[in-house]
Amino acid sequence: MNSLVATSRNFRKAARILGLDAKLEKSLLIPFREIKVECTIPKDDGSLASFVGFRVQHDNARGPMKGGIRYHPEVDPDEVNALAQLMTWKTAVADIPYGGAKGGIGCAPGELSNSELERLTRIFTQKIHDLIGIHTDVPAPDMGTNAQTMAWILDEYSKFHGYSPAVVTGKPIDLGGSLGRDAATGRGVVFATEALLAEYGKSISGLTFVIQGFGNVGSWAAQLIHERGGKVIAIGDVSGAIKNSNGIDIPALVKHKSGGGVLKDFRGSDAFDPKELLVHECDVLLPCALGGVLHRENAADVKAKYIIEAANHPTDPEADEILSKKGVVILPDIYANAGGVIVSYFEWVQNIQGFMWDEEKVNAELQKYMRSAFKNIKGMCQSHDCSLRMGAFTLGVNRVARATMLRGWEG
Ligand SMILES: NC(=O)c1ccc[n+]([C@@H]2O[C@H](COP(=O)([O-])OP(=O)(O)OC[C@H]3O[C@@H](n4cnc5c(N)ncnc54)[C@H](O)[C@@H]3O)[C@@H](O)[C@H]2O)c1
Repeated sequence: MNSLVATSRNFRKAARILGLDAKLEKSLLIPFREIKVECTIPKDDGSLASFVGFRVQHDNARGPMKGGIRYHPEVDPDEVNALAQLMTWKTAVADIPYGGAKGGIGCAPGELSNSELERLTRIFTQKIHDLIGIHTDVPAPDMGTNAQTMAWILDEYSKFHGYSPAVVTGKPIDLGGSLGRDAATGRGVVFATEALLAEYGKSISGLTFVIQGFGNVGSWAAQLIHERGGKVIAIGDVSGAIKNSNGIDIPALVKHKSGGGVLKDFRGSDAFDPKELLVHECDVLLPCALGGVLHRENAADVKAKYIIEAANHPTDPEADEILSKKGVVILPDIYANAGGVIVSYFEWVQNIQGFMWDEEKVNAELQKYMRSAFKNIKGMCQSHDCSLRMGAFTLGVNRVARATMLRGWEG
């Protein structure tokens, strides 16, 4: 099932639980605007290359639309659409004053030089500059893009509209980026895990964890779990998988990776078949890499008691059903990985105020937002006798529906 079908299915289920009016339901699903632009750049060798760029602006009932820009060869309009919709519910679950958007360019960033990437980003910005903005739509990095990409967008946008650091988040600190943004998604994942475990009278300390993905989200989550006394017993990434039943030395692994080492070559652990990673014995499983990794072929063999969806869409709907029947507790992506967009919101606030926060304040505010969202999701689960996924979806959809009705959507 593709991500658009799965997201729309969860939305419809939530709309039914909430008893939403059928016309409002339909209207909430349809994107506000879908932009498709052609971006032609001169390559370094003098030839011309054309790429297609997208921006889907899903909903702005609660505030400016917010979402990442992805550079990937398989950027496809359906997926951008699903991710834009997901951002609408995610920002509402987190209760930050934003709607949802997502964008991307179909390109292989690894095959383009830095100057080609800069030209491509500037052309894309020229084509969409009058449709994004501080109070309209605020992009951020996603797969294949980074703080430098945001710096180019900021610079190009500012040529048309004057200096506007708040037009993008995830910028370099020197251009108004927020302290704590780099770790924010992983830190949010850990705050979410703590909130969930507390419900069961447990804490991170003493539990065992398996993590798929050791990039931005996975490596920060691993470090913070390690700091709190959790035992990370297995980790996998694109290179393979490693395990150590006594707990992997995470600070040493971070050092190994930052020195150019490959995960599967890390000493002090044993390499094993990556196919076994997600079904490895543990208390808590954190998928922090790709979507769709838990499916009907492996779901029945999962041994974790808790799954924290740090990646977007790691569990397909069939696996969701199998795991729920087994009694596995799943903390859904639209809540679990919201830490990144929450700190993006703090970055935007700091830029608008022209007053930057220290890292302690960023982290403390992030914890407050994550705790409060969890309490509100649980409230929805109790009112509607539903799973955490439906608790999160009903919370987000209800907030957007209320804002839409208050603004007078039929007028
Ligand atoms: N970075 C954020 O702020 C953020 C926010 C919300 C959601 N997410 C989601 O979290 C996930 C990870 O994002 P990230 O920013 O850490 O990405 P990243 O590119 O920094 O890291 C991705 C990790 O996944 C691993 N990986 C790739 N293919 C794999 C495979 N076939 N098997 C096992 N591991 C594989 C890579 O080796 C790497 O360790 C994505 O689903 C992303 O959409 C990220």
